[in-house]
Amino acid sequence: MPKARTKYVCQQCGHESPGYYGRCPDCGTWGSMVETVEQSAGPSTARRHGSPSAAGQATRLSDVSSDGGHRIPVGIDEFSRVLGGGLVPGSLVLVGGDPGIGKSTLLLQASTLHSATQGTVLYVSAEESPQQIKLRAERLNVVPEDLLVLGETDMNQIVTQIEQMTPSLVVIDSIQTVFLPDLQSAAGSVAQVRECTSRFMQFAKRSGIPVMIVGHVTKEGTIAGPRVLEHMVDAVLYLEGDRYHQYRVLRAVKNRFGSTDEVGVFEMTDGGMREVVNPSQAFLQERSGNAAGSAVAVPLEGSRPILVEVQALTTATSYGNPRRTATGFDLNRLQMLIAVLQQRVGYNLGMQDIFVNVVGGLRVAEPAVDLGVIAAIGSSHAGRPVERDTVFIGEVGLSGELRSVSQLDRRLNEAQKMGFKRAIIPATTTRGPSDRFQDIELHRVATAQEAIEAGLSAPSRSR
Ligand code: TYD
Ligand code: MG
Repeated sequence: MPKARTKYVCQQCGHESPGYYGRCPDCGTWGSMVETVEQSAGPSTARRHGSPSAAGQATRLSDVSSDGGHRIPVGIDEFSRVLGGGLVPGSLVLVGGDPGIGKSTLLLQASTLHSATQGTVLYVSAEESPQQIKLRAERLNVVPEDLLVLGETDMNQIVTQIEQMTPSLVVIDSIQTVFLPDLQSAAGSVAQVRECTSRFMQFAKRSGIPVMIVGHVTKEGTIAGPRVLEHMVDAVLYLEGDRYHQYRVLRAVKNRFGSTDEVGVFEMTDGGMREVVNPSQAFLQERSGNAAGSAVAVPLEGSRPILVEVQALTTATSYGNPRRTATGFDLNRLQMLIAVLQQRVGYNLGMQDIFVNVVGGLRVAEPAVDLGVIAAIGSSHAGRPVERDTVFIGEVGLSGELRSVSQLDRRLNEAQKMGFKRAIIPATTTRGPSDRFQDIELHRVATAQEAIEAGLSAPSRSR
């Protein structure tokens, strides 16, 4: 195959040059020149990658068949749900995550289950050898009959192979290890990753075969450089979690065919990823009864309320500067809540180190957990455990007021289902107590201070 012509394009100003410059000759930005395949290399290239039917013809929108309802199950229910019900034919899905978080494991399981009902799956492993995949499959105890494994890194070879096979699903693990020989840059570089992704996109659109690509999150927190892939693909899912905890959350951050609200919760076990059907139970299972510094909050993950335990520890600062550490919670938000506790509730936390941890490795970013965090810190500082079977729901404002949260009913329902008897909620919530909450007492409070008074057990006399 003749080599395609390449050029270097500045990502800042669009300046093009046939050779590489460390600094753009036009705008002077360092390191902005990225190698790109010249699309004008020949009319045949453009035609080959273009949509077969379009041929430059505009179509009446009313004549375009939508076929929007058609979804192909991935094989794992939680996975399908995150995608909005399943894979859309011809879509390109990026599954991102830190190295070692379990992307290959999840995709191998999904591929196996998918192939059992939907037909052949081609798993292109550019990272691990087919032997390694086999070992993993044995560990997962799956026998993939219709799973084909291709150990190949050359992009042209991969596309040739897929076209001969016409599988029902293609998995590329990972995009950072495949390369196009036409480009001089190394595999994993911005140029390679972008060009290969666009080839897979064209392939998916042309053939109607869904393609899932794995992308490792690099140190900067973006996949292969400056988020080069997110805008190109149809859906972006991230597999998140703490490597040292067993729980993983699969979250959609972009989805052209569905909402980005859904999350799937998995547990990494010795036998691979297991769907967690009842996340609240999982996150609360190790909770010890009545230690000070622990409170239960109810964040919504997508449309799903999940009960989580928030732990806090306050201790006298040994050096001049107090430390504040948050795991699974935003540090800036924590600083704000500490300031509220200080100024509005009257706790003297100026010389206290404060550590906050959301148990189970989950990251919660919702303001509705504010009250849980406040209660946990308050409880630790006062040395008073939280009242038994109590959950805390509410956003805390800068003047210490409690603000209402969205979808309170859903959260209360989940808390009731999990056997909680009391919920501390914002007084601003306008609706009256609904009949649905017969087993849970709703305690409405206006401020963080009232919430702490209502939520913590009475101070013990010995103190
Ligand atoms: P892997 O899927 O290779 O991660 P990624 O593709 O995201 O880099 O998973 C890596 C980790 O998962 C590894 O540390 C071993 C662990 N693991 C299990 O705990 N159970 C299993 O069944 C498997 C296959 C892996
Ligand atoms: Mg992997």
